[in-house]
Order: sequence, then structure tokens, then C-alpha cells
Amino acid sequence: MNLSSQKIIITGITGGIAFATAKLLIEQGAQVFVSARQQSKLDQALSELGPQASGSLMDLSDTASITEFFDVAGEFDHLITPAASSMFSPISDMDLVAARQILETKQWGQMLCVHEGVKRISKNGSIILFSGTVTQKPIAGATMFASVGGATEAAARIWAHELAPVRVNTIVPGIIDTPIWNSLMSEEAARSTLDATAAVLPVGRVGTVDDIAKSAAFLIDNGFINGHSLVVDGGHRII
Ligand SMILES: NC(=O)c1ccc[n+]([C@@H]2O[C@H](COP(=O)([O-])OP(=O)(O)OC[C@H]3O[C@@H](n4cnc5c(N)ncnc54)[C@H](OP(=O)(O)O)[C@@H]3O)[C@@H](O)[C@H]2O)c1
Repeated sequence: MNLSSQKIIITGITGGIAFATAKLLIEQGAQVFVSARQQSKLDQALSELGPQASGSLMDLSDTASITEFFDVAGEFDHLITPAASSMFSPISDMDLVAARQILETKQWGQMLCVHEGVKRISKNGSIILFSGTVTQKPIAGATMFASVGGATEAAARIWAHELAPVRVNTIVPGIIDTPIWNSLMSEEAARSTLDATAAVLPVGRVGTVDDIAKSAAFLIDNGFINGHSLVVDGGHRII
């Protein structure tokens, strides 16, 4: 795949999936324009990614910062939106502030990125949103991930109609080994959750950030995939 003429926006570059995706797309020749919430973290990521990367600050809870981010980014070809907050909690004991934060970042935030991004996206471009396998495989504690993921997948199919010929797809990750797990539980609990999941998955391991990065590259490359939710979960949903 040669992406040398392509400019690709990726949100939340400090995230495991976002960073791996940026690295892979840069290797294919793309220019990436990325977001972070803190200048020091943005600077660090840009210095690791090298001269094909540039970026600007953006907080998905702040509508004005999203508008400003896309103003600075300018014209581009593809939009990838993995940035989001996270939380696990049973409904009976839910931290309502954290729950609303997922709505604001993962659902409303991705939607605002599309709303702003479509003003400057190439007609030959595409948009890749993020959901999660809990939309199809119920896991206790995943109310908010499942709710916003389901809404995002449904909205993506609408936008594939509305924004044609721009293609709109959703990546539906299973359990992927990223820092998200340390934000959801203690490091020890995260390790044991990942190990226990690996033991029962048909592929015998949890996902890596590269599994998801390759999926994003595939969705950019294949111009006939549109309005699709691409499950990348090692078979988790079928066990
Ligand atoms: N990893 C998995 O097992 C898994 C499974 C299913 C779905 N997913 C989905 O895949 C996507 C990427 O996941 P990941 O594992 O790579 O996540 P991650 O490593 O936890 O990274 C999350 C990113 O989102 C950013 N972020 C959080 N709140 C934000 C806000 N208010 N405004 C802007 N950015 C914000 C974080 O920035 P800071 O550094 O500033 O906090 C970080 O860059 C997410 O949508 C996640 O829900 C992941």
C-alpha cells in the first residue's frame, strides 16, 4: 500500500491503538495529523513519530477545541477516531460522572469529529470510527462501552449514506492489550484479565495494537468496504 499522497487524522495519539496506527500508516508513506490533550504528550509523540507527523491539542469534552483542531488540520483524506475515555461498572453501582464522560468522548466526541471533519475531507477519503465487541458479546460491567459502541456503529451506517462517496466504517475491537486496561482496573487485575481472556480465546491470545492498526490500514486501502463494522476480536464473540 502506498499512502504517500494521503493525509490522515488520528485522534488521541497517546493511546495504544492510535500510536500503533500512526506508526504503521507513516511506514506506508502517509502524513499524519494527530491530537493529544497535553502539549508535553503531543510533543513526545511527534518526536517519536518523526517528520511525517504533525498535530495539535484537542479535548473531546470541549467542543471549541474540536473545531479549532480541525481548523488547524486543514484539508485531509482519512479520519480515524480512537480517542475516548473508558470505564467499567455494573449499572447498580455506576459512577455517573465517568459514565457521562464516555458519552461525551466516545459517542458525542466521535460524532463532533465527523461533524467538523466532513467540511475538509477528500471525496476519495474515508472515516474509521471505534466501537467494541461488547456490542455483540455481553460482558458484565460494559454498559457504557456497549451503549456508545452500538450507537456509533449505527451512526456510521447512516453517515455512509449521507457522506457518500466518503466511506464510513467502524472497527470493533475485542480485548486488546493497551494502557486502557490499567485505566479500568489495577495493573495486577488487568494482567490477570488479559491472561484469562487469552486462555479462552480460539486464537489463544488477546489482541495487539498492531492487529488493530493493520485493520485500519486495510479499511483505508479497500475502497469497496463501506458502512461496515469490522470485528477484530480473535473470535471472542463466538465463544
Ligand atoms: N483496548 C481494548 O481492549 C479495546 C476494546 C474495545 C474497544 N476499544 C476502543 O478502541 C479505542 C482505542 O482504545 P485504546 O485501548 O487504544 O485506548 P487507550 O490506550 O486508553 O487510549 C485512549 C486515548 O483517548 C484519549 N482520551 C481520553 N479522554 C479524552 C478526551 N476527553 N479528549 C481527548 N482524548 C481523550 C487518551 O488521552 P490521554 O493520554 O490524554 O488520557 C488516549 O490518547 C477506544 O475507543 C476504545 O474504547 C479498545
